[in-house]
Amino acid sequence: MENKEFQIEEFDIKLDTEEIGRQFVYIQQVDSSNSYLLNNKELKINGTVVLAEEQTKGRGRMNRDWQSQSGQNLTFSILLRKVDGKKVNIINLGASLVVAQAIENLFQLNTSLKWPNDVLINNKKAAGILIESTSKANELDRVVVGIGINVNQINFPGKYKIEPTSVRKEFKHKVSREKLLSEVLNLYEELLYKIDESHEEVLEDWKERCSMIGEKIKVEGSKETKFGIFDDIDSEGFLIFKTGDKTERIHFGDVSLS
Ligand code: BTN
Repeated sequence: MENKEFQIEEFDIKLDTEEIGRQFVYIQQVDSSNSYLLNNKELKINGTVVLAEEQTKGRGRMNRDWQSQSGQNLTFSILLRKVDGKKVNIINLGASLVVAQAIENLFQLNTSLKWPNDVLINNKKAAGILIESTSKANELDRVVVGIGINVNQINFPGKYKIEPTSVRKEFKHKVSREKLLSEVLNLYEELLYKIDESHEEVLEDWKERCSMIGEKIKVEGSKETKFGIFDDIDSEGFLIFKTGDKTERIHFGDVSLS
């Protein structure tokens, strides 16, 4: 399939932010846009975005890799500076929320969210988020929010935990990456302002899109698998998990219906 270079000007016209994406780094090939932003300390400005056409070592959650065909999708990372550690889970959940909202706004597709941050269209995975950070003293000095959205890719060879899809596959037409990226960043900046005031609204919007709340689920961690009920998300973004009369806060893992 033909690839069209990302049109920075077209993206820039649609970008309506103060900070997010104002410093924009466009790279043809990189190991991982997250690693690039974590390691290049000369990139200092809050809101810097690195967009890579191709990642040779794209990384996903739980030590998995992130596969994305060159030039067809959006693989990018956003640098946030001086973040309050208590907000980092909401910033993480919020990234999946704005990706879902952007896809809904632009393409009228029904999306849903899977804790902590998978974006699904028709129960297939269209996007994922990997948030990473470095700390200095007691604060998170650099938080990198890495977002992978399957935009125009049609074939997904290989094995996946959740069946993958792309916006194009569900929308049935080729999609503008420039429009989608600017919409995601516009919504994300607004959401970050909202989180600064109060994150209740963000959590409520996130929960509304999560169909697993109240359901019997399986949580696969790195060492064990647990079965129970997905009770709620708490104010810090952790999953509240009930097994019999025990309640636990889950910080990490893969969640699926059981
Ligand atoms: C997941 O669902 O497991 C998270 C996937 C995150 C992928 C993105 S693509 C841009 C950024 N750079 C990376 O290496 N990973 C994230």
